[in-house]
Amino acid sequence: MSIRIAPPLPLIFLLMIHNAFSGYWAVSYSHPHICALKNSSVIMSCTYTYPTGYQIMKTFWTNGSVKGVEPPDLSEDPEYSQRLQYLGDKQQNCTIRLSHVTQKDEHMYYFRFTTNVTDGKWAGYPGVSLTVTDLQVEAPERVTEGDSVRLTCKSSCTLTDRATFIWYRNSQPLTERRDRNNQLLLQSVRREDAGRYSCALHEHTYISPAVYLNVTYPPKETFVVVSPSGEIVEGDSVTLICSSISNPPALNFSWFKGGKFVGSGRIFSISKISSDHSGEYKCKSTNEHGEKYSDAVTLNIMYPPKSISVSINGSAEIVEGDSVTLICSSDSNPPALNFSWFKENQSSAVGSGQSFSALQSGRFYGEAHNQHGSQRSDAVAVTVHGVYH
Ligand SMILES: *[C@@H]1O[C@H](CO)[C@@H](O)[C@H](O)[C@H]1NC(C)=O
Ligand SMILES: *[C@@H]1O[C@H](CO)[C@@H](O)[C@H](O)[C@H]1NC(C)=O
Ligand SMILES: *[C@@H]1O[C@H](CO)[C@@H](O)[C@H](O)[C@H]1NC(C)=O
Ligand SMILES: *[C@@H]1O[C@H](CO)[C@@H](O)[C@H](O)[C@H]1NC(C)=O
Ligand SMILES: *[C@@H]1O[C@H](CO)[C@@H](O)[C@H](O)[C@H]1NC(C)=O
Ligand SMILES: *[C@@H]1O[C@H](CO)[C@@H](O)[C@H](O)[C@H]1NC(C)=O
Ligand SMILES: *[C@@H]1O[C@H](CO)[C@@H](O)[C@H](O)[C@H]1NC(C)=O
Ligand SMILES: *[C@@H]1O[C@H](CO)[C@@H](O)[C@H](O)[C@H]1NC(C)=O
Ligand SMILES: *[C@@H]1O[C@H](CO)[C@@H](O)[C@H](O)[C@H]1NC(C)=O
Repeated sequence: MSIRIAPPLPLIFLLMIHNAFSGYWAVSYSHPHICALKNSSVIMSCTYTYPTGYQIMKTFWTNGSVKGVEPPDLSEDPEYSQRLQYLGDKQQNCTIRLSHVTQKDEHMYYFRFTTNVTDGKWAGYPGVSLTVTDLQVEAPERVTEGDSVRLTCKSSCTLTDRATFIWYRNSQPLTERRDRNNQLLLQSVRREDAGRYSCALHEHTYISPAVYLNVTYPPKETFVVVSPSGEIVEGDSVTLICSSISNPPALNFSWFKGGKFVGSGRIFSISKISSDHSGEYKCKSTNEHGEKYSDAVTLNIMYPPKSISVSINGSAEIVEGDSVTLICSSDSNPPALNFSWFKENQSSAVGSGQSFSALQSGRFYGEAHNQHGSQRSDAVAVTVHGVYH
């Protein structure tokens, strides 16, 4: 630290001789370089001495020197007056506090005092340099689940106040492990760790801008949504949608029916569904980190009776008094439980149930019903021979 003496040199020389044994002129600062956090309060610790035989008239801090002009007292500057507090005294302590510092406060500051003796004025050059920093979170733009991540809270200068750093995720304070004072270590990053990170200093109001940590991961869950939901009837248009939770979003989807690849794309559409489409479907979603299969969904396609046929148990030719049983069989979903029997060219049914006992000659056909429709069989002929006495 060097001291420059403000008064003209000859006078200084005289003063120095005169006071050689009764003290010396000096101002000393315990931190000549201060790095302070934005909006914090800065203490500039300062002591001064002067020879005996002088009385201190005025003590003040200033930030500039213009040759031949008395430097401005910062406590009278509207930029500073509200924020500057002199904590010292008129003997030896010249400490001040400057609060709510901003980048505009980055100057040299020095202490000056005047005495009752004309030209007995001193200034502590070169003074204290103040640097004001903000905080910036340094984090990788994106990380993959399981990686180890280190976030750093950066300041542009080494903070004079060695306060503890605190971290926030989405504005919530964190208790995760610290690695060195200004670093946050996420040992095995989880997708819940994604979020907006900011840092601050303990007991300081300033909080850094938030930085988004993007955690990528393979598809976690893949599932199939069937549209429309509910019963599917032959002829309907059906859409299967594959959804998954992944980051980045999966863009590659494959479809499988009963284990066999049937298509790709997020949406699998069947425009006129038939019973052949019944079966178990799965989809697989893939992103650059991995893939995941969905659970199987079963498509059970409903359809009205088809391939209906009537079979005759035994012979179609019987003698009067006997009967012949006609049995109706059909393919339908759900299975037909309702059957009607008709004699050709008669409008009203002659029987119901899956089988029918014919007692007379005629051509008979069956009709099978389920909730989706009905179908009639071809007619079968039954002949009853009369018994002649
Ligand atoms: C300055 O003050 C000191 C102490 O009060 C006194 O001894 C001295 O005579 C004063 N000097 C002048 C020039 O007034
Ligand atoms: C001292 O502070 C005032 C007010 O902020 C400013 O206008 C001036 O430029 C500063 N002087 C120097 C030398 O930095
Ligand atoms: C100067 O005054 C401040 C504020 O009262 C105090 O904290 C500091 O310890 C003092 N310094 C010395 C060297 O006495
Ligand atoms: C600055 O600090 C004060 C309290 O000391 C606080 O009320 C204010 O919100 C802070 N401003 C900023 C921009 O952080
Ligand atoms: C995270 O990164 C992935 C991969 O680049 C990107 O697709 C996704 O949009 C990012 N998420 C956010 C919230 O920025
Ligand atoms: C989608 O995945 C299949 C195999 O799962 C692969 O052959 C194909 O190249 C992938 N397509 C894209 C666009 O990634
Ligand atoms: C067919 O007829 C035989 C002999 O009368 C009888 O045992 C059998 O149960 C009948 N079948 C059906 C399906 O009615
Ligand atoms: C059987 O189907 C006929 C014709 O659709 C209907 O009138 C009748 O109510 C149905 N019976 C039963 C028990 O479902
Ligand atoms: C039943 O009617 C059809 C025409 O609807 C006719 O061709 C057929 O001969 C008739 N059968 C009997 C057994 O009357």
